[in-house]
Amino acid sequence: MSFKAELTEQNTSFTIEDDETVLEAALRQDHNLPYGCRNGACGSCKAKIVSGDINYANGFPDGISENEHQQGYALLCQATTNSDLVIESQIVESAEDIKLRQFPCRVTTCEKLNDDVIRLILELPKTERLQFLAGQYIDILMKDGKRRSFSLANPPHVDQKLELHIRYYEGGLFSEYAFKDLKDKAILRIEGPLGQFTLQESDRPIIMIAGGTGFAPVKSLIEHALEKKDYRPIYFYWGARTETDLYFDDIVKQWTCDYEHIKYIPVLSEINALNNWEGKTGFVHEAVLEDNADLSAYDIYACGPPPMINAVVKSFPEAGLNRERLFSDSFEFAAN
Ligand code: FES
Repeated sequence: MSFKAELTEQNTSFTIEDDETVLEAALRQDHNLPYGCRNGACGSCKAKIVSGDINYANGFPDGISENEHQQGYALLCQATTNSDLVIESQIVESAEDIKLRQFPCRVTTCEKLNDDVIRLILELPKTERLQFLAGQYIDILMKDGKRRSFSLANPPHVDQKLELHIRYYEGGLFSEYAFKDLKDKAILRIEGPLGQFTLQESDRPIIMIAGGTGFAPVKSLIEHALEKKDYRPIYFYWGARTETDLYFDDIVKQWTCDYEHIKYIPVLSEINALNNWEGKTGFVHEAVLEDNADLSAYDIYACGPPPMINAVVKSFPEAGLNRERLFSDSFEFAAN
């Protein structure tokens, strides 16, 4: 049996099945209510129940006081219901609505994807979750007080295991450590979520452009859009030097097999006569312009090294792109 929950402030509603919590139901239907731990401890999901009854199937949670409960507040990550509800809650609409937090995390996977890129999976403590928007990044906090930023490659509905793609830079403070010394089960301290490079509501087709590990936030954005059943056309241009730099080519090809609305255009900048490459060559922004003389109808998401972003910012408006429809994240390299 299902029940209706109305959100008074937002004048919208969603349905709750009897085997799910109010928060699970809301997130499933793309109502981005705030949360933290998802286990009743932190209080981030506290909201006022204006009418209707809630239950706590796993016992009264620690993150709310008896007094708050008496006043009609509830922890939506623990609350189930068997009645219709009217709820007064904030909603996460932009990056500013999410509280910045720090966590210790355990490295559960540290694998080389090619000579220059490793994939890290960081697991949060069992009682914690990281709420974030697709496209955002986290900082790794180093022992000497320095920090290094990395985009999250996992989509927001995967909120306990965080995926990072780390590119090797000679002299790079974290990348040298990650490539040479980092072991499975190491503990890292992180802070997040950060950044404004997030998926915008729109019905315009999308061109996504990644340079190298700029693929990480693109992966998060596309997996998030698929989870939301947002099937706007996506043309994904991935620029790299050589074929091995397209380190998750198989994942992208699988998207194009499973979803007609996703098209993939890899672009290589370093090829020689020995390569059998039949795809596009040159700079990735030039490939986009070659295929699209008029960019006025598109939303553009670009993520990668500064020269690529600068080229996009400079040349795309000349092809009709509305500057307000360009969303970009420039990967600045910080040396040790
Ligand atoms: S998300 Fe922490 S108590 Fe609900």
